[in-house]
Formats: sequence, structure tokens, C-alpha cells
Amino acid sequence: RGGGIASGLILSSGIHSLLSSCSSPSSTTKLPENNTVARTPNPKFTPDLEINLKAAPKTVQILAGQPTQVWSYAAELVKGDPNSLQAVPDSYLGPIIRVRQGQRVRVNFQNNLPQGQSSIVHWHGLILPEDMDGHPRFAIQPGQTYVYEFEVVNRAGMNWFHPHPDMLTGQQAYAGLAGLFIVTDPEEAALKLPAGAYEVPIVLQDRTLDASNQLLYLGSKIGTPRNDGMEGMGGMGSMSQGNSNQSGGSMGNMSSMMGFLGEKIFINGKPDFTLAAATRVYRLRILNGSNARIYKLAWSNGDPLTLIGTDGSLLSQPVTRKYVMLAPGERLDVWADFSKLKVGTQLALNSLAFSGAENVGGNSMGGMSSGNAPELGAAMTLFNVKIARTETETLQLPNKLAALPLLRPEDATNAAQPRPVELSLQGMKWVMNGQPFEMTTATPQETVKLNSIEQWEIINKLNPGAMMDAKGMAHPIHLHGVQFQVISRQVLPELAAGWQTVKDGYVDEGFKDTVMVMPGERVKLLMKFDKYSGLFTYHCHNLEHEDAGMMRNYRVNA
Ligand code: C2O
Ligand code: CU
Repeated sequence: RGGGIASGLILSSGIHSLLSSCSSPSSTTKLPENNTVARTPNPKFTPDLEINLKAAPKTVQILAGQPTQVWSYAAELVKGDPNSLQAVPDSYLGPIIRVRQGQRVRVNFQNNLPQGQSSIVHWHGLILPEDMDGHPRFAIQPGQTYVYEFEVVNRAGMNWFHPHPDMLTGQQAYAGLAGLFIVTDPEEAALKLPAGAYEVPIVLQDRTLDASNQLLYLGSKIGTPRNDGMEGMGGMGSMSQGNSNQSGGSMGNMSSMMGFLGEKIFINGKPDFTLAAATRVYRLRILNGSNARIYKLAWSNGDPLTLIGTDGSLLSQPVTRKYVMLAPGERLDVWADFSKLKVGTQLALNSLAFSGAENVGGNSMGGMSSGNAPELGAAMTLFNVKIARTETETLQLPNKLAALPLLRPEDATNAAQPRPVELSLQGMKWVMNGQPFEMTTATPQETVKLNSIEQWEIINKLNPGAMMDAKGMAHPIHLHGVQFQVISRQVLPELAAGWQTVKDGYVDEGFKDTVMVMPGERVKLLMKFDKYSGLFTYHCHNLEHEDAGMMRNYRVNA
């Protein structure tokens, strides 16, 4: 796995000049030519929906002037309802795949990324058999195809998909590979929630572009091939702090330890997004698709946010919050009622300042952000809403949403002693239960029984001896293969002050697959492993942490 801080420190300045001397993407990007199939279709599987999905470089116009090189999923419908495959409007992100619960889906995924970029698609939030789930051990090489075939068993909810290769997830997702996978079911359909133009996907990301409009990831341009000499060091991304970093190359791979923070907020792949809205109700389906940035969402006019759903389900009933915390990987389903506003009104969805990320007596954890990026917890505007026209459609907020099959804590087989998952720092790496990621079975793993109900307790330990911000960080923990309930949170007394600035923004109702755990916090989860046996992963969804090994496997035994 990747090299330690020492080698990063020594090499970082040399790497910068090397990268900038070979940074023209078009002259160096080699595409694969042959196409072999790593997983072949099953002739007995009859899909309701079949899609070809290709990950490949693409040149797009994001800002005025020079076009930007991104990596993007190109999709085409082979079979099924044309409404099942939609574009994110005017964006290189996407596509949006829309299915009904119970439908059978085939996706022919082709990796057409440059040499060195193995990839695999993870369907974040979907409950799938192990070989459909995009575990990094299934990553395919450029030129290969992986055929997914699965039935959608999830409840209604907005899931998403993104690459999941070992150590390369951060740079591939950052380059533009992210789509939405929206499931509906009869219960949701009966609610007649805002749809069509009134159901708006919002993918929140933070990005840094250089003077020639190219995406910079930890100081390196997207489309710059990995230099093989760096591969053993964990790839260029994890070791170069970058020439845009004012805080100094001497920090080596510190930014991969803290996570990437970009300078500008992008919504659906673009900066300065404005939603031109009518005087009526909208459904905003928000994904935090950032690599590491956490948001504290609030309306600029002081109205509370009304929420109808979270990661993996609708809520039982709507809830309101003055602000909502949203960490990487998490989703929110927002009921946005603009019917009382006058035409001409301007409104913003902001991210408020929070300090809960501060470690004990140290710098705020965003102190190492690259270039001019606002630090984590800084206040910023995410997007604007402009009330542009009158429409009279008046929808009522339903007071009951979903009849959720909620579990009871006392039914867990380990209710008295939850399974501990400790987050801590080892050397310069974040680890779970004291060990870095191993691809398959070498790591002593969590083993659970099919159909059992378990409590897990995520314990975000402090690291008193660590340098600077590394004493404590928020980690969004994501479990593959299951949707869980969050049943309790506790924090160490010495971190209670910072925690106060975030704690009222948790949306722990409903079913989730990603949960933010603040420094010094312990969060208990409750879940049932009732669908598939097999080897699944769970990890931090700060993608730089994930890539550096903050990931483990768990096995569901039949
Ligand atoms: Cu969205 Cu394993 O990740
Ligand atoms: Cu983390």
C-alpha cells in the first residue's frame, strides 16, 4: 500500500515539477483498444432495463475560455422504458437511472479510462449480491467490461453510483464519475410527490480549477497519467500536496490525510448554480458527492429545512431542522415550499459555519486545505434560488410518508455488547479497528450471520499524540450491503462544545447507509443482514481516507 509520510515529504517537491512538465492531458491520455469481458451476461437473466455504461475521458465547457477535461459516464439504453435513463441536465455527471422496486437491471460497464485506471462501479445504497456490489476486488482494467445483473430490492430512495477501485476512488470520482440511481415503490408513488421539472437533483461537490480551467486533484491535473514510478507510493494523488497549496509542500501527503477540499462549490458539475423556480413546492434530492467536504445546510431566510427522506428511505413522517449536516456519501430528500414567496425573491441554500470538527485545543481540521479552498466548517453559499414565475399548483405535505419496518434495539443478538468499530490514526493513516485495508480475507474481519440483527458502535477515538489536526476528524462511515438505523449518539465531554454546533443537524430517522461520526463521538447502529451472504466492505467515505486504507471487509455467513 501507499508509502508513509517520510517518503512523501522527501519526494513531493520533485514530483510537482515532474507532473507539471507532463501535464497536457490530450497528448498523454492513452485509451484502451481491445475490449474483453470480465463478467459475462447470464443468458437466463431477463432484464427489464439494460444499459451500456462507459467510463471515459470527455472534454466539456465548464467555464468561459478553455474547455475542461473530465472523466464521465456515457450511458445508452439497450432495453426498457426510455424514462429510466435520464441525463443530469447540462452536466457531465450522471446519468440518472430510475427504476421501480422489483425491476431487473443489466448494466454493461465498460472501463475506457486511461491506462493505469482500473475501475469498478459501486451502487452506493443498493442492497446487492457481493459480485454486483463493486467491491474493489472486482475492479477491471481499461478495455474490459463487467456485466452487472441484479434485481432492485431497495425501498424508494435516492442512491448513487461511483467508481470503487482500490486507492483510485478519490481521483476518479473527483474527475466526474458519479451518477444517481433513484428507486421508487408503490408506497412512494401513492404520495404524489413533486416530479418531473419539480424534482431537482442537486449533486454538491467542491472543485479546484487551475488557470487553464483544468481540474486539480491534490495539485495534479485530471487526465495526467499516473507515473508508474509513483504507483508504489499510492499514486500521484495521495502523495503530492500540489503546487496550488499555499501552506507548503513540506506537508507531503498531509492533504490525503485530511481529505481534499476544493475552492469552489459545484452543483451538478458547475459553479454558480441558480435554480429558477416557480411559486410552488419542489422536491430537492441532494447528494453530497464531495470527496471530503461536510456541509451544514440552511436556508438563507431562516426557514427550517423540511425533510421527507434520507439515504435509503423516505422518513415515517416529515421532520424539520434549522440546519442539516450532510457528509460525503449522504443524501437528503427535501420538501422545498416556495409557494408563499413573491416573484423576484432571492434565496440561497447556504452552508453555515461549524466548529465541531475542531480537535482538542488544536487548529480546525480544515487547516490543510489546498490552495485557497475554504477550510472545513467555513460558511459558504451553495446555490441560489430565484423565484421567477407564478404557478398555482399547491401540494400538501403528507403527514405520513412510509411505513418503515424499523428494528428494535433489544432484538439485536448483541444488544448488551455492540460490535465495536474504532476509528483511529496509525502512523499517518486513519484505520478502522487498528488495521489498514486488505483486499480479501487476510484481515481479521467482522463476521455476521445472515438474517441476524446486530448493533454496531462506531467509536471515533481521539489521537492525543498526533500532529495538528489529526487529533480528531469527522468520518462519514458507509456500510455496503445493508441499510441501518442510527439509534444513539454520545460525545466525549471535552468535545461537547464543538459538537453543539452540529448535533441538531443530524437526520437519524429512517434508513441510512452512511453516518457522520464526529471527533470523540460514539454512534450506535442497528441493522439486519437479511438479503445476501458474502464478503462486503465498509469504510470511511472521506475518499482520501478510503483510498489510504480506512476500509475493512465484513462477511455475511449463510
Ligand atoms: Cu459510496 Cu464504498 O462507497
Ligand atoms: Cu475518514
